[in-house]
Amino acid sequence: MLISGESGTGKELVARALHFRGTMASRPFVAVDCGSLVPTLIESELFGYEKGAFTGALRSKQGLLQSADTGTIFLDEVGELPLEMQAKLLRFLQEKEVRPVGSNQKVKVDVRIMAATNRDLDTEYQKGTFRKDLYFRLNVVTISLPPLRERRSDIPILAAWFLDRLAPGREVQVSGNAMKAMLAYDWPGNVRELENCLERAVALGDQRIIEVNDLPPSIARAELQAETLDAQEFSGTDLEDIERATIERVFSQVKGDKARAGKMLGISRATLYRKLKRYNIGAREEPPQSTTLQ
Ligand SMILES: Nc1ncnc2c1ncn2[C@@H]1O[C@H](COP(=O)(O)OP(=O)(O)O)[C@@H](O)[C@H]1O
Ligand SMILES: [Mg+2]
Repeated sequence: MLISGESGTGKELVARALHFRGTMASRPFVAVDCGSLVPTLIESELFGYEKGAFTGALRSKQGLLQSADTGTIFLDEVGELPLEMQAKLLRFLQEKEVRPVGSNQKVKVDVRIMAATNRDLDTEYQKGTFRKDLYFRLNVVTISLPPLRERRSDIPILAAWFLDRLAPGREVQVSGNAMKAMLAYDWPGNVRELENCLERAVALGDQRIIEVNDLPPSIARAELQAETLDAQEFSGTDLEDIERATIERVFSQVKGDKARAGKMLGISRATLYRKLKRYNIGAREEPPQSTTLQ
């Protein structure tokens, strides 16, 4: 299985969810960051080594593949593996045996491989920097996670989730302008960046409402851009599409609870009613008491 997506889109989260919510939940889940392993150590990390296999190998050590036996091994940034290791991994996948460095005995190991990459392995194998046969072996099932900027309507829901975890029971909210900035920003670091941004805002802010100036400057600036876009009064613009999708997503997430939806979006009840009407969302619900407020 291959999970692809930019950094911070939730690849590891998805791998863990697939493991821990499936029938393998009680079996091991071992995550390996191939990008951070020193190339010369990757083989001994994955396959293990015998005592005396190299200078410093004072006793033998089991490899990560063997630690994951009967469960799942998650190979993060698999595209970073040197070609030579890719060949060894492929052989392992075919033979289901490991031979620790310095040993002449093979051990049967049964693991499910999940690999993640933020690179486009499709072009990499065509260029020859990733082994085609390994690519096809991993790519039997592919999950590709879109960047956050392509699913902006998730932002209020993710924000509510993180705020609840960062400040349990305190009901920290995001102001309308701060939410506008967050919806307009491009999030190159994806969900991880959103999480960090809220962590910082909770630490710096007044612990009740997150305002634009609690956001990092690059994100706060996005609000100004959103303002100028708004002022130009596009019709049927991207911004409108984002707004509609966002309200729809939040509204169905809270099962039509308008008070909660308003809080998550950082807008007043009256504004919410106006927007619901404009986008024809939740039309079967009771009409608002007073629509004249805004
Ligand atoms: N849908 C989501 N809901 C909640 N948290 C998420 C979601 N997607 C990603 N995260 C969080 O964002 C951070 C980055 O996710 P991670 O799986 O490490 O990304 P990747 O492996 O793609 O770099 C983690 O803290 C993860 O828990
Ligand atoms: Mg990761």
